Amino acid sequence: MPGDRDVFRAPNGTHDVLAPESDRWQAFVAAFATRARRAGFGLLVTPIFEHVEVVQKLGASTDAVRKEMYDFDDKGGRRLALRADGTASVARSFAQHQPVTPWKVWYVAPNFRYERPQKGRYRQHWQVGVEVLGVDDATVDVEVMALAHDFYRDDLGLRQLRLLVNSMGDAETRARYREVLLAHWRAHASLLGAEMERAEANPLRILDSKRDDWQEMIETAPQIGDHLTDRAADDFETVQAGLRSLGISFEIAPRLVRGLDYYTGTTFEFQSDALDAAQNAIGGGGRYDGLVEQMGGKPTPGIGFGIGIERVLIVCDAEGVFAGAPAGLDVFVVDTVGGIASLPLLAELRAAGLSADRAYGNRSMKKQWGVADRLGARWGVMLAPREIAEGKVVVRDMTSGEQVAVKWDEVAAWLTREETSAR
Ligand code: HAM
Repeated sequence: MPGDRDVFRAPNGTHDVLAPESDRWQAFVAAFATRARRAGFGLLVTPIFEHVEVVQKLGASTDAVRKEMYDFDDKGGRRLALRADGTASVARSFAQHQPVTPWKVWYVAPNFRYERPQKGRYRQHWQVGVEVLGVDDATVDVEVMALAHDFYRDDLGLRQLRLLVNSMGDAETRARYREVLLAHWRAHASLLGAEMERAEANPLRILDSKRDDWQEMIETAPQIGDHLTDRAADDFETVQAGLRSLGISFEIAPRLVRGLDYYTGTTFEFQSDALDAAQNAIGGGGRYDGLVEQMGGKPTPGIGFGIGIERVLIVCDAEGVFAGAPAGLDVFVVDTVGGIASLPLLAELRAAGLSADRAYGNRSMKKQWGVADRLGARWGVMLAPREIAEGKVVVRDMTSGEQVAVKWDEVAAWLTREETSAR
């Protein structure tokens, strides 16, 4: 808590996004929305908090639930939790509304995980993502991965991307694999120490550990690819053939299990070398064919991905792409006659579709022109006593400095015409 002389700050691991950076956020989300809409996805908006059981479906052995969940009791004694990802809420929403399938949704929302904050890792982070429910067809996995890939490459301009792909197989595959994997961990029980308990609960969780002293044990662990059933292997082949048909390069990553427990079948992650290895994942996803059922719905296959907005923007800066232009301003109104007169003029300019602003507090003319410069206005419109008496305003081209008197009631049309012909 701040003392008397301290200023309140946003909580650790959270941040404000101010303009013009927020203009870039808006452009990011708009580009994603356009791409998702073109591919047949509709926007889904879900609550920021859910019943705790919904978030717990990420898995009892995951960090997101074990250590990082923001859960609390509300005043009615309900146990709730802030959302930790988008997928659990989408699956819950599907189970609740039973929409017609295939159900294709996209979202943009903040997620909450009590992480140790560092660059690219926050306690509140934002994701854009898509989910497809009700399609049991490995070619849709390819379409979903391609959507993320094309967004990074074509909308943002990222080049240093790596796509890692793995398969968690079907239920039979995973049952077989868990056994051989657990046997491997048991053979290293002394190294695992207290974490052996976690290995017993979910042997897959140990695979994504970054602990240096475990890396050799992890590297020598059995690989899921060697235990796929024929059906799972066929699906994985289809996924690879589909990616090749689109010219999307990828690496098979046999130890990519991802941090959440709901995954089945295809899993994937996009990584960037522009970030430290500990948080180089700029997006990821996969299949979760059991999750809707866990939410109380009918068994329904699902696949999707989430992209971390903050992390991707750090990578954009590192690659020098998607700088995002500040919104800019079409018109700045300089009012030397008291301020009231500028109100209907501004209303008219804005109604005509121009962005228009003014200075406040009856400042000197020089100061007002200074603000127009600072805001990078394209045009200045001055309300001055002499011209007003003639029913006119002065329009200044802020680039050339040229000025012209235009009839008050024609200025919006005049500027709109100039703006259109300049485009
Ligand atoms: P996730 O891998 O946990 O997957 O998160 C997706 C992306 O969100 C990460 O690749 C990363 O870019 C970003 N991210 C995650 N945690 C943080 C954090 N603490 N700070 C900043 N960025 C972060 C999911 O959340 C799944 N729901 C993805 C999915 C959708 N799977 C299927 N459908």
